[in-house]
Amino acid sequence: MAFELPSIPSHGSTSTVLFVIAVSILLVLFGSLCYCLVARRSKGTYHNDKPSNSSVTCRVFTFQEVQEATNNFQEDFLLGIGGFGNVYKGKLENGTKVAVKRATPLSTQGLSEFQNEIQLLSKLQHPHIVSLVGYCHEGEEMILVYEYMANGPLSKWFYEQCESPLSWKQRLEICIGAAKGLHYLHTSSVEGIIHRDVKTANILLDENFVAKVADFGISKKGSSLDESLVVTSVKGTFGYIDPEYFRTSHLTEKSDVYSFGVVLIEVISGRPALDHGLPTEKINVATWAMNSEVKGQLHQIMDPNIVGKARVSSLNKVWEVAKRCLAENRINRPPIGFVLCCLEDALHLELSNIADEENSFLNCEMSEVKVS
Ligand SMILES: *[C@@H]1O[C@H](CO)[C@@H](O)[C@H](O)[C@H]1NC(C)=O
Ligand SMILES: *[C@@H]1O[C@H](CO)[C@@H](O)[C@H](O)[C@H]1NC(C)=O
Repeated sequence: MAFELPSIPSHGSTSTVLFVIAVSILLVLFGSLCYCLVARRSKGTYHNDKPSNSSVTCRVFTFQEVQEATNNFQEDFLLGIGGFGNVYKGKLENGTKVAVKRATPLSTQGLSEFQNEIQLLSKLQHPHIVSLVGYCHEGEEMILVYEYMANGPLSKWFYEQCESPLSWKQRLEICIGAAKGLHYLHTSSVEGIIHRDVKTANILLDENFVAKVADFGISKKGSSLDESLVVTSVKGTFGYIDPEYFRTSHLTEKSDVYSFGVVLIEVISGRPALDHGLPTEKINVATWAMNSEVKGQLHQIMDPNIVGKARVSSLNKVWEVAKRCLAENRINRPPIGFVLCCLEDALHLELSNIADEENSFLNCEMSEVKVS
C-alpha cells in the first residue's frame, strides 16, 4: 500500500506522531470496513439470513446406528423403492421415527445427488420442506435420514385404487402447502433454488396430511429473477418436464411452475401424470386434459370421487391456474406466488357459501405474492 505524503513536514516530532496516529486510524477504519464486507459476503452464502449454526442441524450417523434404526434394513421396514435406492422406516435411539433412504451401490448418479441433497437440504428449514435429520457416508454406503412422513407421497393417493380418497378440501390444502414450499425455494435466498423434479411422488404427507416438498437430488441454485440457467443435461421426470426447458436446456423456476401444473391436473383428475395402460391420446394426463377442454369435455378427466362434492367455482379456479402453469412458453406462466394465491382463493371458495364465482380471479392479480 502506498500513501502519498504531500502535506507532511519532514521535521518536528509532534507532526510525525500526529501523522502516525492519523494513519493508524485510517488503517483501523479500512480494516474494519474490509472485515464487514467479507463477513457480509460469507453470510450471504448461508441461507435466509439465519446464523449458519441455527439452520444446519444435520447429524452424521454411523452405519451401525442406521442398521439399528432400521433393524438391519429389514424387509418389513421397507417403505418404497425410488430412483436413488430403497426407503425404509426407522426409529432412532430417542424414539423419533425417521425415513431412511439407502443408495443402491453402483448407482452412477448416486454420489453427486447424495451430496447435492445434503448441501441444499441441510440449510433449508420450512414447515413445507421435508427436513433432513442426518446422513451416513461410510465406504460404499450413502444413506440419508429424513423426518418420517406417515401418509407417504401424494402420488400414492392417486396411483392405487384408494379406499379413502382425499377430499377436495384436503387436496387444496396439500397443494397450498406444496406451493408454499416451492415459493420458499424460489424466493427465500438471493439466488433461489429450482427444485427440478416437482411431482406428486416428491410431495410427502405427514400424519396430519401436511404437505412437504422432498427430494433435492437434482435441484439447482439459480436466479429467482427470470434469468435462465443453461444446464448441460436435461433432468426431471417424464410427464412433468417443462417443454421449453426440454427444447432449449434453459432452466428457470418456471420449469417448476410447469411441473406443478401437472401436479394440479393429477389432483383434479385423480390420475397419475402418465398412464401407459391408456390409449395414446390419454397417456399424458395434462395433454389429455387440455385436449378435453378444447372439445368441451373437461368432465371426462375430473376425478369421480370429487365430482358433485367439490364446489364448481373452486374446481374451475384450480383448473384455470393449472392451465396457466402449463403454458407452452415460460413467459406466459405465472410465478409460484400467484399460483399459491389462486389456490388459497380456491380453498376460500370451497369453504364459503358465496354462490357466485365472479369474485375470485382478480384477487390474485392484485396481491400476487402473499405468503405466510
Ligand atoms: C457453530 O457452533 C460451534 C459450537 O457451538 C462453534 O464451535 C462454531 O464455531 C460455530 N460455527 C459458526 C460458523 O458460527
Ligand atoms: C432425536 O434425535 C434426533 C437426531 O439426533 C433429533 O433430531 C431429534 O430432535 C431427537 N428427538 C427428541 C425428541 O429428542
